[in-house]
Amino acid sequence: MIGIFDSGLGGLTAVKELHTLSPGEEIVYFGDTGRVPYGTRSESTIVKYAKQDTAFLLSQGVDAILIACGTVSTTALSTLKQICPVPIIGVVEPAAEAAVRATRNGRIAIIGTSATVRSHAFDREIARLAPNSSTLSVACPLFVPLVENGFTAPDCDITRLTCEHYLAPIRDFGADTLILGCTHYPLIAETIARVLPEVTLISAGAEAARRVVALRGIKPSPSSEIRYYVSDDPTLFTASASLFLGHDLAGQVEKIDIERYGYGIGT
Ligand code: DGL
Repeated sequence: MIGIFDSGLGGLTAVKELHTLSPGEEIVYFGDTGRVPYGTRSESTIVKYAKQDTAFLLSQGVDAILIACGTVSTTALSTLKQICPVPIIGVVEPAAEAAVRATRNGRIAIIGTSATVRSHAFDREIARLAPNSSTLSVACPLFVPLVENGFTAPDCDITRLTCEHYLAPIRDFGADTLILGCTHYPLIAETIARVLPEVTLISAGAEAARRVVALRGIKPSPSSEIRYYVSDDPTLFTASASLFLGHDLAGQVEKIDIERYGYGIGT
């Protein structure tokens, strides 16, 4: 059984891909909806939250963890790797590898939260994999609140204007490949694609899910149950998640008290 976590809805982009490719994989999902967003917070707060999220998933008996959050993957992965007793996978390496495979002109852009852009983790990984490429990272702090509040329809004017604002430098940079370095962003991928129609979009969450399947193998049908937990009232999460996943999660999302889980792992 694998544990997957994010600050909220974004990690569902990994859940959806993993469940499609390996439907027999048992999943426990945690969305920290009581403390979203993570991406505007300090490194020490993100590390503290990530340790608690990991501790909760370990308490559920998972044998691996996927950090389906760009912010935590770029800011806390090395700390979590040192203390987590089961394999723990982040989104940076799989997404960077996919982008390097996809690019034709060597110009790769990354969009993510402020914490992700501040970390330069994607730029470093791309430079390591393809030293002749060039990168541009742009923080898009308004995207997560838009997604969490349901402004995801492709014809939503507010989201379109926000995309035009944030993505203009990427058009000027001439990127042919764009990493959606925050796992929330694929929920507005259609709007992003309309603003940057010639650009290949790489979903960090989906690439990480493919890495999990490569590492753990395909667990075929029968389809396993997925358990969903959040840290605040499940209503909004349930509605948005049902829409994104394409089936009704009513009554299947449980609220937990994440503060009960210690800053030490597994406590
Ligand atoms: N999905 C998280 C990420 O990939 C969201 C960050 C946030 O909560 O700000 O970075």
